[in-house]
Amino acid sequence: MKIGVLYSRLRVEEKWIFAALQQRGVDFDRLDDRKIHFDLEDPAPWQEYDAVLERSISYARGLYALKTLNAWGIPTVNTAAVAEACGDKIATANALSAAGVPQPATRVAFTPEAALEAIEAMGYPVVLKPVVGSWGRLLAKINDRDAAEAVLEHKAVLGSYQHSIFYVQEYIEKPGRDIRALVIGDKVIAAIYRHSPHWITNTARGGAGEVCPVTPELESLCLNATQAVGGGVLAVDVIEHPEKGLLVNEINHTLEFHTAQPTSGVDIAGEIVDYVISIAELRMQN
Ligand SMILES: Nc1ncnc2c1ncn2[C@@H]1O[C@H](COP(=O)(O)OP(=O)(O)O)[C@@H](O)[C@H]1O
Ligand SMILES: [Mg+2]
Repeated sequence: MKIGVLYSRLRVEEKWIFAALQQRGVDFDRLDDRKIHFDLEDPAPWQEYDAVLERSISYARGLYALKTLNAWGIPTVNTAAVAEACGDKIATANALSAAGVPQPATRVAFTPEAALEAIEAMGYPVVLKPVVGSWGRLLAKINDRDAAEAVLEHKAVLGSYQHSIFYVQEYIEKPGRDIRALVIGDKVIAAIYRHSPHWITNTARGGAGEVCPVTPELESLCLNATQAVGGGVLAVDVIEHPEKGLLVNEINHTLEFHTAQPTSGVDIAGEIVDYVISIAELRMQN
């Protein structure tokens, strides 16, 4: 068996993953996404991999690597289809909606004028988010019409084309935290609260972790959410709405767990590696 691990930068998660592969005696290659290239007519050099684990920091690099590998029939964690459903917040919202998974009220518009109408129809405050993004970057909480007009104009004038896709969400008065649940296959392996005095609770922005009990309600919500996008190794962000209860905010397909692993005490890197090995074994049987 041979596993490939595609990565951009060696974060602590990659170090833990390499250590887990070594511990299990698995033969693997470290594939730096700054150095590789694909000859699209020659899959042969890649066929030696029974599975590739994608850990790119760049959504685009990861996605196109997965698309190419999957087109050649090489199993990946996650699949290109899952990355596509998770990496784009509109695709995620559509998948959750189709599966009947509860999520924050969300509207999409394509011009600042139409976005303003959507915002006024929802009522303040709202949250504007880039459709593709992470680490809480470029999220804007809009408290009134003046702020809405200003941010919409700035996005339209200064932003790349992506920022002219206006993704508007109801702002949820959550209890100073949100929940990050880690799902591998059909198991919720760990969950943490992310506390922060700021409304953006990402650990990349200073949110602090605390163990969150995996209640049957949280478990079934997360499994429904991950099934809706195709399943694999996923992190589900859940917000506690004061009236509507647990809502799925987003699903991450290349998860960071530098806080979740020490906080939960679960060997997340080991669980990921075991899952990748099981995918590779399936391919070797066929
Ligand atoms: N609609 C919302 N209401 C309240 N808080 C929110 C809302 N959307 C996001 N947040 C906060 O911002 C954080 C980042 O939002 P998220 O949609 O996960 O973007 P990113 O992809 O950048 O992580 C969430 O973890 C949560 O703490
Ligand atoms: Mg998030």
